[in-house]
Amino acid sequence: MKRILSGIKPTGVPHLGNYFGMMKPAIEWQDRGEAYYFIADYHALTTVTDPNALRENTRGVALDFLACGLDPKKAVLFRQSDVPEVTELTWLLSCVTPMPMLENCHAFKDHLAKNKTPNHGLFAYPVLMAADILIYNSNVVPVGRDQKQHVEVTRDIAAAMNRIYGGGLFVIPESSILPQVATVVGLDGQKMSKSYNNTVALFEEEKALRKKIMSIVTDSTPVESPKDPEKSSIVALYRLFANEADVRKIEGEFRAGGLGYGEFKKRLFEAVWEYFRPMRAQRAALAADPAGVDSVLRAGGERARAVARKTMERVREAVGLR
Ligand code: TRP
Repeated sequence: MKRILSGIKPTGVPHLGNYFGMMKPAIEWQDRGEAYYFIADYHALTTVTDPNALRENTRGVALDFLACGLDPKKAVLFRQSDVPEVTELTWLLSCVTPMPMLENCHAFKDHLAKNKTPNHGLFAYPVLMAADILIYNSNVVPVGRDQKQHVEVTRDIAAAMNRIYGGGLFVIPESSILPQVATVVGLDGQKMSKSYNNTVALFEEEKALRKKIMSIVTDSTPVESPKDPEKSSIVALYRLFANEADVRKIEGEFRAGGLGYGEFKKRLFEAVWEYFRPMRAQRAALAADPAGVDSVLRAGGERARAVARKTMERVREAVGLR
């Protein structure tokens, strides 16, 4: 049985990029092995400094995840910080992690490129992520393309630990990226990301969703003219929500000309709204029972912690702390 693990950072309200990049693949994986999914609240602290926001985001991510089909009977859902052992492992891993490897990581490099001063948490972020993965003996890590480098770092760190302290100490994990859903385009045509302010949340109000979709940036091709579906963010998004026949249809209509972008945006809105309809109902039901969600997280935390404690006993012994 494969151990599958992934994490999502509660830095805001989950958006379509999070959904297709991480949440949806994670939900599909829950039937294929022993899945552990956590809300990476320690990681969020590198950027979120408002305690209420952190609590609220964490709850929101749990709600969205459960509403979208994460089944706590199949997958262990928990808060990263309910397993404080992971911070101890982070330290042990830090001691075998070369600084240049972390200096090469893109989140850190992006920060420097923007002339911002990274905090040490941001610099050490990939080491905490390695600890997340290794402490649960994970085999597979389903992530978006942007996280692949971090899984590579994890593999290097695990190999270093195994070399120094004995083979078999850690499982070497693999990333899994579903090519068709790895990157979601944002409203402005760039990759959908909170830092570009071009996101659409999973559970927008109807009006807000319509407004956002109508604001998708398009070129100035006149209504009558043929349009290239391959260059359109509308079609790129539509592909994520519509069935194959409807996608063919919209592609044909793009090429034929005679319809404006506004019409296509309306259709995209309908597709998104319908797609999330059952999950919206599920979310409303879950939101009405906050104690239920809390108990899912608590139970998940206990199960995860039991695994982590076992790993740490082994690791403390291996490094000579016991
Ligand atoms: N860094 C991931 C992100 O920003 C979140 C994360 C933290 C994670 N720890 C992880 C993902 C471990 C996979 C495995 O999306």
